[in-house]
Amino acid sequence: MAGPSCHCEHGWVLPLRWIEPPDGPAIALLDQTQLPARETDIVCTDVDALVDAIQRLVVRGAPLLGIAGAYGVALAAARSDDVVGAAQLIARARPTAVNLARGVDRALRAWTDTADPDAVLAAARELAAEDARASDAMAEHGLALVPERARILTHCNTGALVSGGAGTALAVALAAHRAGRLARLWVDETRPLLQGARLTAWEAARAGAPYSVLADNAAGSLFARGDVDLVLVGADRIAADGSVANKVGTFPLAVLAHHHHVPFVVVAPASTIDLATESGAAIEIEDRAADEVTALAGVPIAPDGSPAYNPAFDVTPPELVTAIVTERGVIRPVSRDTVRRWERERSSTGR
Ligand code: MRU
Repeated sequence: MAGPSCHCEHGWVLPLRWIEPPDGPAIALLDQTQLPARETDIVCTDVDALVDAIQRLVVRGAPLLGIAGAYGVALAAARSDDVVGAAQLIARARPTAVNLARGVDRALRAWTDTADPDAVLAAARELAAEDARASDAMAEHGLALVPERARILTHCNTGALVSGGAGTALAVALAAHRAGRLARLWVDETRPLLQGARLTAWEAARAGAPYSVLADNAAGSLFARGDVDLVLVGADRIAADGSVANKVGTFPLAVLAHHHHVPFVVVAPASTIDLATESGAAIEIEDRAADEVTALAGVPIAPDGSPAYNPAFDVTPPELVTAIVTERGVIRPVSRDTVRRWERERSSTGR
């Protein structure tokens, strides 16, 4: 159901908002499928509506999926639904971003510990606040890797639209802009659903950052001209060996960056690192509908009934990743050993 617009607070994009009774309980989502043409909300009054919104990418991006998952469990609890069943439905809505299942699990734990809907809502709010703090820390750590007059290439959308705060890779790029260090943000359009052209360009424009949109297949010539100093991308799941699943089209950028000796940096919160997934090959990659490829904005661009190959994500092997920036420090170089060392250090310091 469409609702009143709620997309901004203190100049920040608010991609998700909890609605209290009497209008709620409900979750208002800024409908990312409609951006940049329209800034409208979808109001989810039950878990089925939320699952549908997750699958249609109304709400998307790994950290925000975790937050939405936690609020979804809070919604089920507030409505006196079957909370465990609802949690399972939400966690399965999309398979690749580990944050979704983690956000759901965290809220479900609050429910099994307390059976109190308010405690579940508090857990969801706490997760969103943690993500905002993680964004700031990632921006700070990431900024240290950005050279002066940087020309940064990014893929998909990783800003405030995917977060309780400023986001991941785009948060670093926009911090570089505020620090006077960004000469140009190259925004991959990100076929087939155009998260770069529609969403990253929208966020960059709002921030007054210098940006240009390019067709994904123009990236090669951009590197060849020497016009890229740094690649910054996010992640949906990082395996124990340092392999990075992210929006399809990320892996070819890593290959190009490697060939042209350009740093390829992944920015992701610790909650995206999944030590239970041993390697890149073990990451489940979501397959999406053929018509996302064979039609553009609802207009067919291939013969009727054409089959299509449409994985939502690809996997970049650790040897192509220069560094992983988390809120708990930078992993560099990236390998099974350095990921394990990062985990040991963070457990020993309790961070
Ligand atoms: O299919 P999407 O739009 O949910 O994919 C999002 C991405 O691939 C992002 O790069 C990733 O979730 C990191 S967001 C900080």
